[in-house]
Amino acid sequence: MVRKKQESNRIIIFDTTMRDGEQSPGASMNLSEKLRIAEVLEAMGVDIIEAGFPIASEGDFEAVNEIAKILKTATVCGLARSSKEDIDRCAEALKPSENRRIHTFISTSPLHMKFKLQMGPEEVHQAVIDSVKYARNFTDDVEWSPEDGSRTEHSFLCRTVESAIKYGAKTINIPDTVGYAIPEEFGALIAMLMNKVPNIDKARLSVHCHNDLGLAVANSLAAVKSGARQVECTINGLGERAGNAAMEEIVMALRTRSDSLPYHNNINTEHITKASRLVSTITGFSIQPNKAIVGANAFAHEAGIHQDGVLKNAQTYEIMTPESVGLTESKLVMGKHSGRHAFRQKLEELGYELGDNAVQDAFKRFKDLADLKKDIYDEDIIALVDDAVVRSNDRIQLVSLEVLCGTEHRPPSAKLRLNFDGDEKYSETTGDGPVDAIFTGIKELTSQSPKLQLYQVHAVTQGTDAQAEVTVRLEENGKTVNGKGADTDTMVASSKAYINALNKLLVKREKTAPAALSA
Ligand code: KIV
Ligand code: ZN
Repeated sequence: MVRKKQESNRIIIFDTTMRDGEQSPGASMNLSEKLRIAEVLEAMGVDIIEAGFPIASEGDFEAVNEIAKILKTATVCGLARSSKEDIDRCAEALKPSENRRIHTFISTSPLHMKFKLQMGPEEVHQAVIDSVKYARNFTDDVEWSPEDGSRTEHSFLCRTVESAIKYGAKTINIPDTVGYAIPEEFGALIAMLMNKVPNIDKARLSVHCHNDLGLAVANSLAAVKSGARQVECTINGLGERAGNAAMEEIVMALRTRSDSLPYHNNINTEHITKASRLVSTITGFSIQPNKAIVGANAFAHEAGIHQDGVLKNAQTYEIMTPESVGLTESKLVMGKHSGRHAFRQKLEELGYELGDNAVQDAFKRFKDLADLKKDIYDEDIIALVDDAVVRSNDRIQLVSLEVLCGTEHRPPSAKLRLNFDGDEKYSETTGDGPVDAIFTGIKELTSQSPKLQLYQVHAVTQGTDAQAEVTVRLEENGKTVNGKGADTDTMVASSKAYINALNKLLVKREKTAPAALSA
């Protein structure tokens, strides 16, 4: 029985796509990509945006700092360990915003304290007090997390939570860092805190669940039922290892099952599809077709008996409408005779807010595409615009490619021209197949040989003239990146994807993760 009920039934949505999400191997995002994600998150009604971990790298600092400048309604948040250096750096990054939150954390489970921190409970307890107190010098909005909270001894958890609140934390976030909890138990843990921590009514309880057992969303909802009023989540469930609780699943569960989950939040669910596509494009993480809410099949009905039912009454097999998540029917848009005005209107309809130059550039590429492909669908436009977004900051760019392959051309060969910060380089290479010849050429020109972990081709629409969307995953010294490329020519798309991944590796090399970070 929960003793102290949270007054309100409003659930605060805290997005950590750009912090925990970016920590997932391969999911790097550059500054302009993060700014775009931040705008989309704010427009969809996210309350708090955790924009990065400022001490982790110059890139993270800059991203938090720039996002702090542009947000108007959402609170910007930065992560910091319990040290003064981390908190100072975080505070500095957050300075441009009035609505700023410092999120500080330290491990509290016996396992983490002993092996990761090599600190005793008393030392950790003191660090909680010192860090929260120190963070309060920079903002009233301090969040504190006991890392590995779900595996922390209850008495120690209550003691640290009580102290964090006493010294000024306004939000207490309980992480299931390793995704070990199960819903009943996690709900009971939150109820226990609500019942046992004497000053719990002075703070908002939050949860941060990882998905190692596929239970992140279920655990988060169980926690809400027990009194948690903030949920930390990411778009598409991005995050360390198996990811975090997916925002789209949390929000749609709250909306669809408001009968048993009578809580409200500020998210406009019609923005979900746009946000999901953007994050997928930027990170290069494709969405599995059967992913809840945002997978390509989430609203598709293949079996005749289902189709028949849906035609008679959509509710027979649809518990949510595609429109409620912003999914509009795939429409034949236009062809080579469509004008600039119609194209601009289509971009707006698809949710893009591009400046004049970007529209001009997209329109030119649309015309080129229309010369190659008779029917152009919404998905083609999305692939075309996203392809430009993905490449906009790349230092290495594809200039030209010529491939010879087939039964009469053995071995397959590739002539390749790349531009490196303004300098052009040329190579001619052969390989086991055309893709191998291209990738060998790129490696030769860039003098880099990362390990190819994934090469995946996906057709953007139906038909043999469809654009190919290629994903390439590369690994170098334990760092993984995903690159994407789209083109009607699969070989061009492949080279773009490989080059895009190499560009991301360049950025990754400049980033150094702080020691002992796990989240
Ligand atoms: O998973 C985790 O414990 C975290 C904390 C930093 C909140 O990400
Ligand atoms: Zn985490």
